[in-house]
Amino acid sequence: MTQRNHYLFVCANRRPDGSPKGSCAAAGSVELAAALKDEIGRRGLHRTEVRPCTSSCLDVCWAGPVIAVEPDGYFYGHVAASDVPEIVDALVAGARVERLVIAPEGFDEPTAKARRAT
Ligand code: FES
Repeated sequence: MTQRNHYLFVCANRRPDGSPKGSCAAAGSVELAAALKDEIGRRGLHRTEVRPCTSSCLDVCWAGPVIAVEPDGYFYGHVAASDVPEIVDALVAGARVERLVIAPEGFDEPTAKARRAT
């Protein structure tokens, strides 16, 4: 196997039902990871361009489902399986889906929740 140009880490952490923090798995990340893997494989990008992986908690649970894009160093938040084709299109084009990128202030839970409520 070769080193891929990108690794997409989909948080697959699951907390018990009713947990106040929630979790990406409870918000649909398992289905998201499967859709991402299918799309990348269907396009034949999995061997050289991008490797989709699952991860444990990435500590931005309020923005789940979350994907960490490495080595570019940004996160996507509130990602749905329907966003997958757009995400892969952007990756291939050397771009990102700006509407899904978590802004720096989005890594602070109170600020992120306040912005989302407005
Ligand atoms: S549960 Fe996914 S970031 Fe914490």
